[in-house]
Amino acid sequence: MSRTHKIAIIPGDGIGRDVIPAAQQVLDRAAALCGFTLAYHPFDWSCETYHATGRMMPDDGITQLADHDAIFLGAVGYPGVPDHISLWGLLIPIRREFDQYVNLRPVRLLPGVPCPLANKKPGDIDFWVVRENVEGEYSQIGGRMFAGTNREFVEQTAIFTRFGTDRILRFAFDLATKLGRNHVTSATKSNGIFHSMPFWDERFAAIAATYPETRIDQYHIDILAARFVMSPERFDVVVGSNLFGDILSDLGPGVTGTIAVAPSANLNPERKFPSMFEPVHGSAPDIAGKGIANPVGAIWAGAMMLEHLGETEAAALVMHAIESALADPATPRTPDLGGVGTMSALNAAIVEQCGKQK
Ligand code: NAI
Ligand code: MG
Repeated sequence: MSRTHKIAIIPGDGIGRDVIPAAQQVLDRAAALCGFTLAYHPFDWSCETYHATGRMMPDDGITQLADHDAIFLGAVGYPGVPDHISLWGLLIPIRREFDQYVNLRPVRLLPGVPCPLANKKPGDIDFWVVRENVEGEYSQIGGRMFAGTNREFVEQTAIFTRFGTDRILRFAFDLATKLGRNHVTSATKSNGIFHSMPFWDERFAAIAATYPETRIDQYHIDILAARFVMSPERFDVVVGSNLFGDILSDLGPGVTGTIAVAPSANLNPERKFPSMFEPVHGSAPDIAGKGIANPVGAIWAGAMMLEHLGETEAAALVMHAIESALADPATPRTPDLGGVGTMSALNAAIVEQCGKQK
């Protein structure tokens, strides 16, 4: 019997329902070539589910997912349901309950993708953003009083634990070591944020001291954002808190041309719980159902999932298929890449490339 991986599929909303089935075709092709099977278990949790049931996922949703090797998600959020409901009703509970404390996003300029920065070629921009994914600025701690009056006030508290800070920093250093690129950059703002960011800097220095072979630098988030645009070549691994990492991990793909090709992994590195893989983009209501969504972000997320499942050869096949399809001028391109092609046509080209390499 060949190996089987149990995958929970949550297409979600909008183009999530377009790109996930497309990506599955590519993953299945790679799996067939490498002699294993992906057994998919679909879940229809979405804003539509919310309209019908008042919940983004059932009460026992987390338990239903727990028994899978990985979760493959499209996008959640749609006009008509406030974004904080879709986010806090599905994505954030999954990230927290499964302790997916690392959000890992590659930033790489792919061939055939027009770069908004002048004179950059594929390979020039190639680094990783490591975002803390379960604490920090995204907390429910705080409150609102005297709502609707002149005395109204809100308080929002950021949470930085030593445990949570140290483990994300260590992950970043370990990743740099694994990649053979011993250089880690920390995103901070210890000049303006009085308590949490000086603490973050302290822990960065403490963890860095245990990786003496790794070069370090740190920048305040404002100038770091500027450097992402002005000199993206200088980065290898960039680590940031939940909020800073969130912004940087969209800015990074932005400077490589389009967020539509960018993937994201929500990892529980200890593998006690399933990790979750998704494209960076959202549900894109403006193009949903039109058949023109770019499937590359979802496919690349699928490649990261294969890598996590230990299917390194299949992951490499998928990445190579993406790159060779995009590098070929004859490949149909979706409108976000400046073409007039459909998602299916671009996807078919990637599936075909996947076959060619074996
Ligand atoms: P978005 O990523 O959905 O769309 C931004 C722009 O990029 C749109 O013009 C869209 O057409 C384009 N775009 C995005 N993905 C594309 C693709 N694969 N191919 C071609 N073009 C693409 O972000 P937006 O509009 O801010 O959010 C829409 C909804 O998605 C909201 O409800 C939001 O909360 C949700 N969202 C969900 C995320 C998730 O599930 N992780 C992440 C980001 C947004
Ligand atoms: Mg984001």
